[in-house]
Amino acid sequence: MSVGKRRIAHGPRLTGPNPERPEVLIRLTYASRSKGMLGAVDVKDIIRISQRNNAALGVTGALLLVNGVFLQCLEGSSAAVNTLYHRIALDPRHHQTSILAFAEIDRRCFGGWSMGLVPALGENLDLLKAYSPGPDFDPFAMRPSALDTLFSELVSRARVLSD
Ligand SMILES: Cc1cc2nc3c(=O)[nH]c(=O)nc-3n(C[C@H](O)[C@H](O)[C@H](O)COP(=O)(O)O)c2cc1C
Repeated sequence: MSVGKRRIAHGPRLTGPNPERPEVLIRLTYASRSKGMLGAVDVKDIIRISQRNNAALGVTGALLLVNGVFLQCLEGSSAAVNTLYHRIALDPRHHQTSILAFAEIDRRCFGGWSMGLVPALGENLDLLKAYSPGPDFDPFAMRPSALDTLFSELVSRARVLSD
């Protein structure tokens, strides 16, 4: 039997569309607890770096910090989202990262936002509390479907600061 030329199977592309293979989109939502007292400046710094990196990876999403709890949604190709999530999980600025939802999606919720910042103020804060099972905002206790609806409501109310 002739071995001949073997075709090398390349891994999934991390960036850019592949016309021969439509992109499978994934949405990953996780929560974590901030380490120490992180303020608005720290979060803006995270957003600035995220917007630069995520644009190159074709990842979109949103991030919020409420009472020391981060909630972040990442959308993009499965490979890009997985790689990014594992890098973020190693960041010493937070701990107790927990994936709350991971699913294939038909379309992006965050459109052109490489990383939107959701200010935990005013109407946004009321909405966050309304979606939480207890008196305080606790994304760890939320169902995946509730997280999806929460983010789409935040986006539709345009209370997210996009890039
Ligand atoms: C809660 C949280 C969310 C983050 N989200 C992102 C993100 O969406 N994209 C990103 O590139 N880095 C994000 N980071 C920062 C990364 O952990 C890491 O510091 C950064 O990707 C390093 O980028 P650099 O090598 O370009 O400096 C996040 C960090 C934290 C604490």
